[in-house]
Amino acid sequence: MQTAATSPLSSWMPWSDRAGRLVPLKLVILLALCAPAAWMVLEWRMGWLSPKPIGDLVKESGDWSIRMLVVSLAVTPLRYVLRWNKLVLVRRMVGLAALYYTLIHLALWCFDLHLDWMRIFTELFLRTFLTVGLAGTIIMVVLGVTSNDWSIARLGAQRWNWLHAWVYLGAAASLLHYFMEVRLDATEASLLSGFFILLMTFRWVRKRATPGFWNLSLMALICGIATALAEAAYYKISTGVNVMRVLNANLDFSYTIRPAWWVFGVGVIVAALAAVRARFGPATGRKALSPSRR
Ligand code: HEM
Repeated sequence: MQTAATSPLSSWMPWSDRAGRLVPLKLVILLALCAPAAWMVLEWRMGWLSPKPIGDLVKESGDWSIRMLVVSLAVTPLRYVLRWNKLVLVRRMVGLAALYYTLIHLALWCFDLHLDWMRIFTELFLRTFLTVGLAGTIIMVVLGVTSNDWSIARLGAQRWNWLHAWVYLGAAASLLHYFMEVRLDATEASLLSGFFILLMTFRWVRKRATPGFWNLSLMALICGIATALAEAAYYKISTGVNVMRVLNANLDFSYTIRPAWWVFGVGVIVAALAAVRARFGPATGRKALSPSRR
């Protein structure tokens, strides 16, 4: 008799492992990833949105897609720093969630234009920020379609890894799309771009040295400064505001804490965690942290 634990069907469930056993971590992350969609449905059903509800949902789904994309990029570095190998179990799930929210974002935008395909295609190719968003979406779709064991076996690990490194290009295009769309307040776009820079830098450091407290803290400082500069550059280009005025705003804590500080702070926390785990955590054998397919 086939038990639930070995049933092939249960092993396909997003909250199960290959043997079909429930993995609490996967279930918790799955629920967290579904929560924004549930909230958007609730907002829409309860009439809590503005007189242009679809426009609101286009924005909200866009926000969640980029947040999840950045979180998906953070999974491998966190797995390494925390020496928490189980995190690999949720990497694919988070990446796919980013793709699903992007597709919802795109579909809602099409509905907002009353499925007028002529107008949709014209806008997609004539408005630069939409063309950039389209590029990001195409990359994410290709990665989503090939994020399965069958594709890894067909392509071979090397080509598959090369293809999936395109996620960084997809994320860069998506962030650019975000910046180009923002009109006044680029706080979240700057924050997410700062985390993106932090994650890219971590990847670079990890390839060249063993990440420890001091090199990760230095990385946090450099990424914080890069975030401040990126934010100042954005305001200079979009509104002509003096670069020094925006940079000085980073030193004024009476109103808000600017993205550069958050990026620096998160970077230092990661550095401290890495140091603690290196001292008290399990050994980091190459095998223990080797890429896993699921
Ligand atoms: C063909 C693909 C895409 C189309 C047609 C599209 C369309 C749009 C439109 C029309 C807006 C402006 C909404 C408004 O101001 O009312 C927008 C904003 C946004 N999009 Fe996209 N988008 C695409 C791809 C993406 C991708 C791939 C991402 C991220 C993964 C993304 C993330 C965002 C974000 C974060 C915003 C800003 C939302 C806000 O202002 O709070 N979009 N997009």
